[in-house]
Amino acid sequence: MKKNIASLFLLSLALLSCTQKKETSSVISGTTSPDSIEIKITALLQKMTLEEKIGQMNQYNGFWDATGPAPSEKNAKNKYEHLKKGLVGAVLNVTGVEKVRKLQEMAVNETRLGIPLLFGFDVIHGYKTITPIPLAEAASWDLSLIEKSARIAAEEASAVGINWTFAPMVDISRDARWGRVMEGAGEDTYLGSKIGIARIKGFQGNDLSANNTIAACVKHFAGYGFAESGKDYNTADISLSTLYNVILPPFKAAVDNNVQTVMNSFNVVDGIPATANSFLQRDILKGKWNYKGFVVSDWGSGLEMIDHGYAKDLKQVAELSAKAGSDMDMESYAYVAHLKQLVESGKVDEKLIDDAVRRILRVKFELGLFDDPYRYCNLQNEKTKIYAPEHMAVALDIARKSMVLLKNEKQILPLSKTQKNIAVIGALANDKSSPLGNWRLAADDNNAITVLEGLQKLSTNVSFARGVNFVTEKTSFPNEVQINETDTSGIGEAVALAKKSDIIIMVLGEHGMQSGEGRSRSRLDLPGLQQQMLEAVYAANKNIVLVLMNGRPLAVTWAAENIPAILEAWQPGMLSGDAIAQVLFGEYNPSGKLPMTFPRSVGQVPIYYNHYSTGRPGPKKEVFWSHYTDETNKPLYPFGYGLSYTSFQYSNLKIDDGDQSKIKVSVLVKNKGKFSGEEVVQLYIRDKAASVVRPLKELKGFEKINLSIGEAKQVDFLLTDAELGFYNSTGQFLVEPGDFEIMVGSSSEKGISGVFNKK
Ligand code: NOJ
Repeated sequence: MKKNIASLFLLSLALLSCTQKKETSSVISGTTSPDSIEIKITALLQKMTLEEKIGQMNQYNGFWDATGPAPSEKNAKNKYEHLKKGLVGAVLNVTGVEKVRKLQEMAVNETRLGIPLLFGFDVIHGYKTITPIPLAEAASWDLSLIEKSARIAAEEASAVGINWTFAPMVDISRDARWGRVMEGAGEDTYLGSKIGIARIKGFQGNDLSANNTIAACVKHFAGYGFAESGKDYNTADISLSTLYNVILPPFKAAVDNNVQTVMNSFNVVDGIPATANSFLQRDILKGKWNYKGFVVSDWGSGLEMIDHGYAKDLKQVAELSAKAGSDMDMESYAYVAHLKQLVESGKVDEKLIDDAVRRILRVKFELGLFDDPYRYCNLQNEKTKIYAPEHMAVALDIARKSMVLLKNEKQILPLSKTQKNIAVIGALANDKSSPLGNWRLAADDNNAITVLEGLQKLSTNVSFARGVNFVTEKTSFPNEVQINETDTSGIGEAVALAKKSDIIIMVLGEHGMQSGEGRSRSRLDLPGLQQQMLEAVYAANKNIVLVLMNGRPLAVTWAAENIPAILEAWQPGMLSGDAIAQVLFGEYNPSGKLPMTFPRSVGQVPIYYNHYSTGRPGPKKEVFWSHYTDETNKPLYPFGYGLSYTSFQYSNLKIDDGDQSKIKVSVLVKNKGKFSGEEVVQLYIRDKAASVVRPLKELKGFEKINLSIGEAKQVDFLLTDAELGFYNSTGQFLVEPGDFEIMVGSSSEKGISGVFNKK
């Protein structure tokens, strides 16, 4: 009763403030409890015309074509008019306090109801202080550091007016040909879920209404990472078992952790484009999972349904998307053009519009925009937060921790600081752009510390030869590059330097713009003439440390067989050169583990550790088992793999299944080597027989520990039903009795094992 009276009071207050014509900032202020937010939304909805409601469902790009095809002139002209009429709910790619304030003022002062705008931006791995690409960060397996990295990104983004990032991408992918593997956490659902949560926490913080936290957006719902043959935007043909067990869990984890928004995807799932997919958006996301945030379409994904052959025109795009639960239209212009008429003609129920708008307004209330629409517009913050020293420190730390030592024959690494005659070879070693990776929309150009610069800070014995020219020219599309496939003229210079050097650091891999959206590759080798140069240098001097810089797993099989030491550095961001040099000289002992399997050859792809067993697993002497006749089934480097300068011994695996609801697993890990270091202790299970076939191995726990020389630590894990169960093809979560194998170790292929019986 008391609650009802309080609610009525709040409602009348809200209505009062609504009916008073707003003059300055906002219609309704005061973000308090969730209940009062709902009351305020109801009051506001009652004030809104149908057109104004639809306006909230419309998002426009910030009047330039930074992240997608340019809008047509006609539409661009309409944008300001639409904004002033209250027909725009959010914009993207507008940054900088001044610009944001200008547009926000239009929304707040010049529209009838003064509803503030959301300002979205792809803050994917840093805003100005660029951190390693997300795939690299995933290799750190360091959740608190990943959270910090997202935190500094949010600090900087919020300081320039942004209140919404289109991250994290939690698409699971098993195909290194897909260019966007760089943007995710790799192939594993468990790891990907944990990392997704860490990133959301980093962006959103504990209080979304603070002026340094921003709304996150988990994407792409769903199945985008399963693009056939790794070709971006391609069809995803997914079984329900894979959908429920592999693809959806990171989204569910995000929803359970309060992610404010979800982005749908470009692809078709089971014949229906994700944007118009009711099964995904209404039945699962908003139905089963009871999601309260809103769904934004991907860039023009509504419009693309015409090309998919699903909608006959833009009007049908609006109808199908709205009905299926795509709440906000990013750059398709479908809702703003057709939704009003569709509602008035009875084709779309206004209740669906109200539901979508309620979700969008809720996020605006949660962000505190009704209290102060300019809370992200602080010029002082803009000046002090960008490139803050503490941000750079996080960027360096996570860059070092993202690196994976793939090979270290005869302990060639770490290098001694007194090492004489160090040759550094490769155009990437002197490249200030590539280490920034692909998603660095706001980054200042060419501001990465190069490997060469980093090494020169730690040693005076470094000589450099670029070798083959890696990139020949830029193409007409911004940021696109042409890889040199013909001009071998630099190889001689590289070989000459190698001959007179004692050790060679070769920095090879992919240009920063060879991975990312639209950058699928059919080959996974070292692009251009790098392999040829590597072999030529090797013929002159075998003492090579290969530093790989790339945005995806590469099939560097020849190098793995011949080169004595290989460090996977990925694209480590602004502090790239410092981080790499510190790892090579042993100032930091590498601790990264691969979040994605490295294939031996492209023909093995998709290749991933948690596959099913076939009925003919082999190996057999005769031919009729599941294998290739020209390649092994083994990957080049498995998921979870990564070496250290020290070595770790695993022993004392204990399984206590006394309490069946919490099975306890413990293991003793000892540092047996000559360096202190970190180890990622990984726990895998195998459900031996179940009503739905289960993978050979599934990661179900990990912990990153630090051990000084000679130190031993016990690591404990708990396995509950959440870890032991699985989904059947109706989406039902089952926990079945039976035998489980456990493996605890240093990668998905190496560890000590035990069994227990689940009753
Ligand atoms: C298209 C991408 O698929 C999506 O991830 C991104 O957030 C939008 N463009 C906006 O830039």
